[in-house]
Amino acid sequence: MRVKEHYEKHLADFYSWMLGDLEPKSTEFQNLLSSNGVEPKTTKNAIDLGAGNGIQSIALKRLGFEVVAVDFNEQLLKELKANPNAKGVKTKLLDITQVRELESLKPELIICCGDTITHLDSKERIEKLISDCTKILTDNGHLILTFRNYTSELSDQQRFIPVKSTNDRILTCILEYEPEKVKVTDLLYEKSNGQWNQKVSSYQKVRIEPKEVVQILEENGMSIKLNQPINRMETIIANKNGLQHGI
Ligand SMILES: C[S@@+](CC[C@H](N)C(=O)[O-])C[C@H]1O[C@@H](n2cnc3c(N)ncnc32)[C@H](O)[C@@H]1O
Repeated sequence: MRVKEHYEKHLADFYSWMLGDLEPKSTEFQNLLSSNGVEPKTTKNAIDLGAGNGIQSIALKRLGFEVVAVDFNEQLLKELKANPNAKGVKTKLLDITQVRELESLKPELIICCGDTITHLDSKERIEKLISDCTKILTDNGHLILTFRNYTSELSDQQRFIPVKSTNDRILTCILEYEPEKVKVTDLLYEKSNGQWNQKVSSYQKVRIEPKEVVQILEENGMSIKLNQPINRMETIIANKNGLQHGI
């Protein structure tokens, strides 16, 4: 199933349940930015690509950015809008591959976090997204990417990952490796009227290493300020130092 359909027909219905309380996650992201000197300095505009229900958008708003949260899933953007902590965040229903449509915002910060870049179709698409982001960023602007590194394979039973369970829902994630991608199956058991029902849906994620992402960033004139795993999420903060060509 394509990623968009996967969210529309499956994951969006239980994404917020899966994440639980957004507050500690938003605070953690806010602290990451503050401790790396990422704060509104020029245009104050920030774009959150693949915003989902808003963990990072909320943090950006609290830091004083004017935030545009971009996602192709309407349900998650509605949830974000309904969250009082996200007051003032603007939402835009758009495929993140169309990020150049937001050029007129003159963003000083673009983020694509929570394993969203790996949702793209291929490494080439990731490369294009990064290149487009660097083109529309203001000089000295920041690009922040957080994603999972699927390049080392889990084997056998390790590929069955218990994600979350409550009295009426159990979510397991199953990984199957292909050379360039990993197939992810979200297996949900949901109880209604005393009966357990199974819902299954699969999609693919790109297997890419942080050093490949760093290389793409550097080829696009970005300097790396931070590159480290945080809570098993590869975290890269890159800065556009104004030396870029071909803008
Ligand atoms: C793994 S979630 C991350 C959401 C949020 N950033 C977080 O950390 O919770 C990925 C999000 O990106 C969105 N998404 C994936 N591919 C997209 C695309 N090509 N264009 C727009 N949104 C996309 C999904 O709808 C989903 O909300």
